[in-house]
Amino acid sequence: MNVLVIGNGGREHAIVAALAKSPRVDKLYCMKGNAGIAELAECVDVDYMDNAAVGDWLDSHTDVRYTVIAPDDPLAAGLADELERRGHRVFGPIKKAAQIEASKAFAKALMKKYGIPTAAYETFDDYEKALAYVRAGKFPVVLKADGLALGKGVLICEDAAAAEAGLRQIMLDKAFGAAGNKVVVEEFLTGKEFTPGEEVSVLTFTDGKTIVPMIPSCDHKRALDGDKGLNTGGMGTFTPCPFYSEQVRDETEDKILLPTVSAMNAEGRPFKGVLYFGLMRTPEGMKVVEYNSRFGDPETQVVLPMLKTDLLEIFEAVTDERLADIDIEWEEGACVCVVLASGGYPQKYEKGKEITFDAPPGEDVFVYHAGTVRGADGVLRTNGGRVLNICAKGRTVEEARQRAYDYIRHVHFEGMQFRKDIGIKYNAKG
Ligand code: AMP
Ligand code: GLY
Repeated sequence: MNVLVIGNGGREHAIVAALAKSPRVDKLYCMKGNAGIAELAECVDVDYMDNAAVGDWLDSHTDVRYTVIAPDDPLAAGLADELERRGHRVFGPIKKAAQIEASKAFAKALMKKYGIPTAAYETFDDYEKALAYVRAGKFPVVLKADGLALGKGVLICEDAAAAEAGLRQIMLDKAFGAAGNKVVVEEFLTGKEFTPGEEVSVLTFTDGKTIVPMIPSCDHKRALDGDKGLNTGGMGTFTPCPFYSEQVRDETEDKILLPTVSAMNAEGRPFKGVLYFGLMRTPEGMKVVEYNSRFGDPETQVVLPMLKTDLLEIFEAVTDERLADIDIEWEEGACVCVVLASGGYPQKYEKGKEITFDAPPGEDVFVYHAGTVRGADGVLRTNGGRVLNICAKGRTVEEARQRAYDYIRHVHFEGMQFRKDIGIKYNAKG
């Protein structure tokens, strides 16, 4: 079977690599892909934010029997609906289900209505009212632009002055565009004794009836070591997560995962695809920090390499609503992913820097490309904020992280920045 994957980052490279292992896949296409993906798939230069253009491409490529929509923005724009309407088989939720990520105000209201544990909040579309509410409340306070903002629309404000500046940035200066027309003002969640709560990402396959959570992973959202600096799309991940024990897992499935899938059904928005639960462990138990309507990036880069089952089989089981009928198996052990970013990310950065490797990756080390491009001159160059993902497997997180960091010494581009502490947090505490 020939398969199209939509997207162009490290997550898509990991999905393409997993599909390439399927004995049932003949040829892969990726729209638009990147220099790494191009080694496994034919890259297609069509704008995936143009639903009709993607539909037309598929209509005229009758060899392609299945399409995987990986990023949030085409899902929010209804690409799955458009392709299904034209009779194509698709992996990814329809527009009204993708709302669970596309509007934080929607997601918060859903959790409130169905009693799914999350931080207390209010939603505002008026700057003055938001400001008055924030000033009367406690600090730190969390401000979130309602819409999609590449993981950057969340501001944690320590005092009234910072909150005022943040509200101004989101609501008046429109730093995140129309995503900031509404703002969610949230209670700041902590772990025990005001230490930051432990966070875990649980990517979950669901066909709207059955859920199959993938192995848990931990992201590092802040730009700098020690969880300092601005929020980013994610600077690195590891799996497994020591604190996500079987007991915590079972409780989370009962109180959060299943109720969310049921709530979406009850709202007439059945969710089929990957539902991503961003969770925080608090003294009152697990709470939802965010939902995403898709695989996480860079969580996927540590989760899919551990998958033993054929990914295409799982995708098709979701599409055909027979997820309950298949067994999904995972490798034992650990995987770590370190993101190599352009200097300046998540703010302004330059593109077009030459990338070189002075040694090939060793056993159990693999490189997924995120923002890369190969010029007509054959030279590999940076083409985005997050550039490369250096991933490694090991028996333990410590072994995997050692392997990943050892290899990073062989990768070079001007301005390259990365966190030195991926895989250390939570493990240090056992
Ligand atoms: P989000 O994009 O909603 O996942 O938020 C990005 C990051 O901000 C999360 O991974 C948390 O570390 C932090 N964060 C978001 N909401 C809260 C909250 N209510 N309390 C504490 N930290 C939060
Ligand atoms: N790593 C966080 C996300 O994919 O949204």
